[in-house]
Amino acid sequence: MDDQPHIQIDVNGPYIVDGPVPLTEMAPVHTLNGEPVDWHVLGAIESEEWPAYLCRCGGSKNKPFCDSSHESNGFDGTEAADRRPFAERAVVDEGAHEQLLDDKPLCVRAGFCRTRTTSVWDLLALGGDPEAAERLREMTWNCPSGRLVLRDLDGNDIEPELAPEVGVVPGGPLWIRGGIRVTGSDGTEWETRNRVALCRCGGSASKPFCDGAHLRRHFDER
Ligand code: FES
Repeated sequence: MDDQPHIQIDVNGPYIVDGPVPLTEMAPVHTLNGEPVDWHVLGAIESEEWPAYLCRCGGSKNKPFCDSSHESNGFDGTEAADRRPFAERAVVDEGAHEQLLDDKPLCVRAGFCRTRTTSVWDLLALGGDPEAAERLREMTWNCPSGRLVLRDLDGNDIEPELAPEVGVVPGGPLWIRGGIRVTGSDGTEWETRNRVALCRCGGSASKPFCDGAHLRRHFDER
């Protein structure tokens, strides 16, 4: 076992999770109007083996673990995501006290950035209002994919302190938290970030990252 958590992506195969890192089932909490507002930990997931092999093709009968179905279901795990750093890709919106960086192709359709009455962009435009600023942080930090990042006017990211953890979202992606290194199947490192969502339905056009394909495919856990 390595000293630091690490995820190695296998060629047309699973995520190989190594190092001291918990696997946790976690799901969005919704308001009565169906708007996601927070995350709820459902429980720890124990792996019978370590490193843990987590399904990436969506075809395992033993999710979230790999059962070698990828060897017979024709899974193409080609990693087609943009390899440029987030800061190079992101569009920057200027607020009075911070910037909001937005890399839209990373969107996983989690929906934390918008409600019926407001959005992170509306809140940013409200400038120094303390309540708006707090809500802006909450909404941005709940975005699992790291599509949205707040940055102060000195150029420092304003990020939550997340312990390294692999979150398994029922019917959704892996939520990789706390700056876990991810190495692609060709041996190239993906940018290490505080929040990353990895595809586990097998259908993303932007592998290894989730692009919301699980919603179109009605991905489930069975
Ligand atoms: S990656 Fe092995 S069963 Fe899905």
